[in-house]
Amino acid sequence: MKPLCEAQPEGLGLKDDIFQREKYPVPFEFNHQVAEVFDDMALRSIPQYVDSMRFISGLACNFLRAGSTFIDLGCSTGSLLQMIASSVQVRLCLIGMDCSPSMYAIAKKKLSKYQDNIDIRLHCADILQTSLPTAAFVNASYVLQFLPVGSRIEVFTKVYQSLEPGGVFVFSEKVLSPCSLLQDTATFFYEAFKRQHGYSQSEIERKKEALDNVLVSSSTAEYQQMALQAGFVNFEVALKWGPFATFVMRKKGI
Ligand SMILES: C[S@@+](CC[C@H](N)C(=O)[O-])C[C@H]1O[C@@H](n2cnc3c(N)ncnc32)[C@H](O)[C@@H]1O
Repeated sequence: MKPLCEAQPEGLGLKDDIFQREKYPVPFEFNHQVAEVFDDMALRSIPQYVDSMRFISGLACNFLRAGSTFIDLGCSTGSLLQMIASSVQVRLCLIGMDCSPSMYAIAKKKLSKYQDNIDIRLHCADILQTSLPTAAFVNASYVLQFLPVGSRIEVFTKVYQSLEPGGVFVFSEKVLSPCSLLQDTATFFYEAFKRQHGYSQSEIERKKEALDNVLVSSSTAEYQQMALQAGFVNFEVALKWGPFATFVMRKKGI
């Protein structure tokens, strides 16, 4: 077993002050303004962000063989692909997909230095409109929550069909608790996390308003149901912090 990847995500170094500004994106969108500061936003807004990327890249580096394909759906600025590219020992095909042209442009720049040793393909495309190539491992971090609820099952089915037998699917989400007390507690701790990471209460409130009806969470049970319906087995919660969770599952082997 290879150790966990120790690489750090390489951010652009720009601080997320978007919700301090006079003009901020309402409703929230992954535009140029957001893409520029996204690496800092993710680090300060997603608990266990680096841990979850280390878990996913560590699993990928242990599971994938030379010539395997890894797909990252909703890859944003390419941080996870960059962590894998900088630590993997074999030649892989790494595919990233994101529908935001601004995210795509940053990912392309960030990953260009690895192109000589690794086959990296980036697509500026909508997951719901694009078919996926055959892959051994697919990841989707914090992207399902931005898709219409009714279309999320299509992603599970699409990923299942694209995976080789025994292939791995990992996804991370901000999930909803079916119990209002536990949901309120998770929200309370999450807002404390954001304050500890330098966001003011007004930034927190403005972003919450911007994300209303844009980021729509499902529950763990709903995601598990979608995974089972698509055919996945071995569904497990790999990491959990308040409302943030990383799930892992496999396609049936031969
Ligand atoms: C919260 S960010 C994902 C973060 C990234 N996976 C990470 O861990 O750093 C969500 C991303 O999903 C992308 N996205 C949203 N809807 C999409 C769709 N239908 N197809 C492709 N990408 C999509 C957005 O452009 C955005 O970059």
